[in-house]
Amino acid sequence: MKNIVILISGRGSNMQAIVNAAIPNVRIAAVLSNSETAAGLAWAAEKGIATDSINHKNYDSRLAFDTAMMEKIDAYQPDLVVLAGFMRILTPEFCRHYQDRLINIHPSLLPSFTGLHTHERALAAGCRIAGCTIHFVTPELDCGPIIAQGVVPILDGDTADTVAARVLKVEHTLFPKAVADFAAGRLKIEGNRVINPNHEISADSRFCA
Ligand code: GRF
Repeated sequence: MKNIVILISGRGSNMQAIVNAAIPNVRIAAVLSNSETAAGLAWAAEKGIATDSINHKNYDSRLAFDTAMMEKIDAYQPDLVVLAGFMRILTPEFCRHYQDRLINIHPSLLPSFTGLHTHERALAAGCRIAGCTIHFVTPELDCGPIIAQGVVPILDGDTADTVAARVLKVEHTLFPKAVADFAAGRLKIEGNRVINPNHEISADSRFCA
């Protein structure tokens, strides 16, 4: 059984998708947050999952917060730490501590549009496709080895909200698959690439209208 700790900052719909997928060989050990009011925490607690939060505003440096968060996370002895809408920039110390067992979902087709406001920026750039990327986390923001990507069209009349909603649907199918691939030991990192013999699942760049 693989122990998984999920970190969220808000509504937690990706976390819910992972929990609801009931992935074989996966135990959701805890859902943690940097905000005690994160809506996803209440949802997880109702499901009987351990939850906890510490507020980053109570720490005077990023490292002090990350160190406190690492202590909380490590109490659950995680095989994998999943960032599911965790809106904090992580220190290199945090990234190194969980090297090769820390994954993130980002709402763009990386390496395009790292950082915030990805859908606005894709629209402003005149992109005809958008999507999401699940990747291993390295100290450089939104740059680690890519596990899976999902693609959606950008349609005439789209706004950032309509694109976000279309991408989110894909996030919800892709993320549980990536966690399942990790738990089954199918993901091998070679340099900055992820090799997955189960190619059909890892290279899941379907077009979803
Ligand atoms: C998702 O779009 C995710 O890609 C981004 O933040 C959003 C989180 O949504 N990192 P939710 O909290 O999972 O509903």
